[in-house]
Formats: sequence, structure tokens, C-alpha cells
Amino acid sequence: MAKDTSWKQVGKWYDEIVSKEGHTYHREVVFPRLREWLSFDQGDAVLDLGCGQGVLARELPQEVSYLGIDLAKPLIEKAKIRSSHLFQVGDVTGSLSLSRKDFSHVFFILSLQNMKRGDKAVKNGADHLRKGGKMIVILNHPCYRIPRQSSWGIDENKKLQYRRIDRYLSPLEVPIQMHPSQKKDSAVTYSYHHPISTYVQWMVSEGLVITRLEEWHSLKLSTGGKAKMENRSRKEFPLFLALEATLPLD
Ligand SMILES: C[S@@+](CC[C@H](N)C(=O)[O-])C[C@H]1O[C@@H](n2cnc3c(N)ncnc32)[C@H](O)[C@@H]1O
Repeated sequence: MAKDTSWKQVGKWYDEIVSKEGHTYHREVVFPRLREWLSFDQGDAVLDLGCGQGVLARELPQEVSYLGIDLAKPLIEKAKIRSSHLFQVGDVTGSLSLSRKDFSHVFFILSLQNMKRGDKAVKNGADHLRKGGKMIVILNHPCYRIPRQSSWGIDENKKLQYRRIDRYLSPLEVPIQMHPSQKKDSAVTYSYHHPISTYVQWMVSEGLVITRLEEWHSLKLSTGGKAKMENRSRKEFPLFLALEATLPLD
């Protein structure tokens, strides 16, 4: 049986931390940067794969039509309570065939990294894009935020905080205890690591062309004795990678 990568076990908790306006990272980094980047035209339609409780839907201009799909039924139920957009439960790595195949934008907001078969999800996304349409993928930065394989360290001689990377090119499946204090009773979600080249290969093999790449760092500011080195390293090592790939017109 395929691994259940849905966040249904943590749906209530995730809905609470994301709330109506989004988690701190949505509010302070992802959405402000996307607002600078994207514009929508009359007739545009968004497909949000791994939509969670629908935070992206609430960010979009009213006139843009929207469909959000997620494997976690409890999150889809929350999404439907939080807005009147269209949402459905579904595995976006399975055989996805929607009646509409002309979406102008397909989004994966921090979701592709939680899907075991990311390649299939990208294929499904590409199959539902119109020519000229864009796939936008936001990831925890695959170079600097590799679950269990990246961490901060302090070089006392140089008085700097560095990022340590223990593995990068090998794909990894990493179970994450969502509430570590509960130890073995904690709900578990799965994160999947791939190097950037894998994401690009998945997109290019579906006929998409990479049209934009951005790296976004945290705006958080430290105070106290280590503030200088922490603030400096936070600006040097991005939290998120944002990729845009476009289906060419011909
Ligand atoms: C970190 S959450 C992100 C949710 C939302 N995009 C957000 O930014 O709040 C990852 C989501 O991916 C969903 N997911 C994981 N595997 C999936 C699959 N195969 N099909 C659809 N959704 C999936 C999970 O249920 C979870 O809601």
C-alpha cells in the first residue's frame, strides 16, 4: 500500500498554527514575496496541490477561480469552513484527472516536500496547466534545510555562525515527530529531500521551462549576545527556494 503522507493526524494542530492569515513564514516571507512576483489576469485559475487548510486561497484576488486538493480530509474540512473556495480530498501523486485542464497557475506551497512521489505530483500539475501557464513550487531550501542533515554551528575563532550540511545529493525520506516531547506517541509526518537538480529534471521532463528562481531568507531578528552572528547567518542562508516553471506556448 502506498505510504500515507497526509497530514490528517496533525490537521487540528496545523489548522491552528496556520490560522486564517497563515503561519509566520507564510505571512512574513512567502506571501509578501509572491505578491511582488505574481499578478493575476481576468480568467486566471489556480490549482493548489497539497493545499492544507487553504491558506493560499484566502490570499488570492476574489475574481481568480481556485481549486485546492489535499490528502488530509480534516484539513479540507477546515479549508471549507474558512472560505467558500472549491476544495477536494485527493492524492495528487495518484491518477489525477480533473475536468478542467487549463489552469493558469499550479502551486505547491511547502507541500511537494511532503509527497513521496514528487515526480508524479509534478506530472499531474503539468497535465492540468494551459499553455503559457506557470507551476510555482515553494520548498524548504533543499540545500540548507535538509531534515536531520543540516544544522547551525558556531566557529568561535571566526566569531561566526555557519551552516553545516552532512548530506545533499542523496534522496532521503525523513519521518518527523511533530510533537517531540510526546516521543513515540507523537504524530509523524514524512519529509522528502531531493537535490535541486531533481526538481528541475521533474519539471523539464514534463516540457516545462524554468522561468524564475528565488531564494528567500528569514526576516527574524535576534537580540542578545549572539545577535550579530545570528542575524548575519540568517541573511546568508535562505529558508526557502521558490521555483517557477512555465509551459511554453508552442
Ligand atoms: C506542510 S503542509 C502545507 C499545506 C499548505 N500548502 C500550506 O502552505 O499551509 C503539506 C501538505 O501536503 C499534503 N500532502 C502530502 N502528501 C499528499 C498527497 N500525496 N496528495 C495531496 N496532498 C498531500 C499534506 O496533507 C499537507 O496538508
